[in-house]
Amino acid sequence: MDRTAQLTARVTERGIAYDPPSSSPPPAPSAASLHVRAARVLAANWTGGSTVPSRSLYPHQWSWDSAFIAIGLRHLSPLRAQTELETLLAAQWADGRVPHIVFSPSVPLDAYFPSPDFWRSSTAGRPAGAPRTVQTSGIVQPPVHALAAWLVHRADPVLSRARGFLARVYPQLAAWHRYLLHCRDLGGGGLVSVVHPWEQGMDNSPCWDGPLARVTPAPAHSFRRADLDHGAAGDRPTDLDYGRYVRLAADYRDGGYADRDGEFAVEDPSFNALLIASEHALARIAAELGAPGTARHARAERLTAALVERLWDDASGMFLCRDLRGGGPIRERSVSGLVPLLLPGLPREVAGALLGTLRGPHFAARTGLVPSYDLRGPAFEPNRYWRGPAWFNTAWLVERGLRAHGESGAADALRGAFLRTARESGFAEYVDPDTGEACGAPGFGWTAALTLDLLHGVDVARETGEEGGNRG
Ligand code: SER
Repeated sequence: MDRTAQLTARVTERGIAYDPPSSSPPPAPSAASLHVRAARVLAANWTGGSTVPSRSLYPHQWSWDSAFIAIGLRHLSPLRAQTELETLLAAQWADGRVPHIVFSPSVPLDAYFPSPDFWRSSTAGRPAGAPRTVQTSGIVQPPVHALAAWLVHRADPVLSRARGFLARVYPQLAAWHRYLLHCRDLGGGGLVSVVHPWEQGMDNSPCWDGPLARVTPAPAHSFRRADLDHGAAGDRPTDLDYGRYVRLAADYRDGGYADRDGEFAVEDPSFNALLIASEHALARIAAELGAPGTARHARAERLTAALVERLWDDASGMFLCRDLRGGGPIRERSVSGLVPLLLPGLPREVAGALLGTLRGPHFAARTGLVPSYDLRGPAFEPNRYWRGPAWFNTAWLVERGLRAHGESGAADALRGAFLRTARESGFAEYVDPDTGEACGAPGFGWTAALTLDLLHGVDVARETGEEGGNRG
């Protein structure tokens, strides 16, 4: 990577604008200080082997957070970025699943709910091969890891080769994808399903309101929400949502974490798009290790075709979730349906329609970021977690998608909005999509990490090593 590539900043009427990278000038003071502030957040959240998303709200290691954090950490310390992913993968189950939380034994049980004594991974998870030496949850999160591993490798290939980084993580990442493709194709159409809203990552998205309405909530007195000790109730999911999350997770646990006929099964566009992008990355990792990656690229293309066939909705100009238990498309517009823009192999008319939707009234927010849910949707709430606020990981994914489709002007604008809002919000977990008001936890790990990544302005085509080819 070109380490001299930095974003330059200039003052405009609307504040600081960040110009695309150029080959020579050093970072302007405000970009440099943003870099320092982001690095401080990551230093404060570093535990020695991994990074917590937030010291208060999320005091353990989270799976997709770690992948996004590694993508930013590579600019500070490629060694720490490699370690972040290695720590997570050390908690992989024998069936291949990568758990969504790896618990830190030094954190008190009541600091986060559901805690290890709820998941009981080392006993209830034994049939599925949960590790004995570390406590984890039993569900998963979006598979961003192979993409992260490849980007981390590209940041310092000499160190990566010297440590045998890719050779060590490749079998683990391959087993992870195998688990998803073999055990989670619950709809039989080639796509992967999630069995809990926490797996998809956008916990209380209005997309889940329909599927969750069928689930009998666990009684309110049967658990205590630790999140409300640290986050404003209006920014967080409701008690009724939590009752249903707990019911679904407890039922899955009590069935030994076997992937059978649970009450909740959804095919989600973002989850599958991230799997496809990671499958392309795994092909590049294989090639770097001297094995052909052709079969993996071909599988990624087949998955892309299945994504379009099963989840594309022409009328809304975006991808929709599919409820496998209620039968059919979920007619809610969520940012999840825009994330497949990440895939350069999309049919041209699909990519064109997605660009139109992104610029249209449902998603064009005043901050310039992308709301998590339809600005005009009946369930829109600007502050409540995934029911409207703009998040920084989805902005990063959409920015990457815009570049993949040659929309560099729109990508530059989104990058500027990201950096401006990340700075002004104190690296918030999420923000009101119109006002930019900070919501959730301050000093959030992936917000700081992806700020660093955008500040470094790496050329997407160069870092995927396939100029002119499929860059997924
Ligand atoms: N995002 C969930 C939480 O809020 C779980 O992963 O705790």
